[in-house]
Amino acid sequence: MQHVCHMVLIGNVGEVKNVDPRKKRPTPHFMQDKVTDSDSKWLPAVEIDPSEVDGALVTEGKWFTKKVSNTDHSIYYLSSESNHTSKILCRSDADIEEAQYEGGFKVWDCTYHLMKYLCLNNPKARFIGKKVLDLGCGNGFLGILSIYLGAEVVHFQDYNDIVIRNITIPNVLKNLQKCSLPPEKCKFYAGDWKSFSELNSFKYDVILTAATIYNSKCYGKLLSVFEENLESSGSVILAAKSHYFGWGGGTRKFEDYLQQNSKFETSTLWTCSEGVQQDIIEIKFQTKDSVNGLSS
Ligand SMILES: C[S@@+](CC[C@H](N)C(=O)[O-])C[C@H]1O[C@@H](n2cnc3c(N)ncnc32)[C@H](O)[C@@H]1O
Repeated sequence: MQHVCHMVLIGNVGEVKNVDPRKKRPTPHFMQDKVTDSDSKWLPAVEIDPSEVDGALVTEGKWFTKKVSNTDHSIYYLSSESNHTSKILCRSDADIEEAQYEGGFKVWDCTYHLMKYLCLNNPKARFIGKKVLDLGCGNGFLGILSIYLGAEVVHFQDYNDIVIRNITIPNVLKNLQKCSLPPEKCKFYAGDWKSFSELNSFKYDVILTAATIYNSKCYGKLLSVFEENLESSGSVILAAKSHYFGWGGGTRKFEDYLQQNSKFETSTLWTCSEGVQQDIIEIKFQTKDSVNGLSS
């Protein structure tokens, strides 16, 4: 992932029919006042009601399926190339533009690694009856997988409301329809992590997050979501590259950051060292035993 590049790479993009986000709601999120955070401006968190979303995206969309490894499930998702949408969001031709567009239209590799890991490693215990947050969800594959694996409540958060409206919500509604589950099972949020917890005090058993730690400037607010929204016995499962060239963040830097914070402990669940190393790590609140070195 490059901070500045000259191609707009939007793979697996939902078919954004008649996309003009300015027509979708009276006050588009990206036109609202932004929250100043160091040298950047970030949009405040908002909840998005799925009933506001154009139903034609679900009924008339061009649907693709992705078989989920080791299960009988296939995830339905919208797909097409659409540079149109990214051009609305990015002033330059970048795949991510800080605080403007954070890359949610594309499905990033880390998500596929994490999906496979979750399916192969005790999925029932991790998901049945659990409250799950797909943080920095993009297309929402991790949250949708959680629904198929038996989660009771699944919430989705992405920085860009245009991603939530045009990709995440249609994808989630289509998959809920497929397994005859009610839309009330899911909630959707857009905006910056900094104000997410002020808007939403819900506590999750599991927070899933993939390709979200490239920008170390956001580590403080990401950690505050973990602190405020994770159940005391819950866990964050995070998938990321060990290092993001051009950004400087990655699992190594994030683990160092967590160590300084001292509230959390981490363990590496999976590592792939082909090409740029990718890791899946689990993050939990420290317990008295883990502080005293007594945990297994
Ligand atoms: C590279 S995309 C990854 C999308 C998806 N998880 C995947 O793996 O396909 C990074 C995601 O992190 C989220 N994100 C990054 N910085 C954020 C911030 N400061 N506040 C809220 N969300 C942020 C965005 O929603 C964006 O979709």
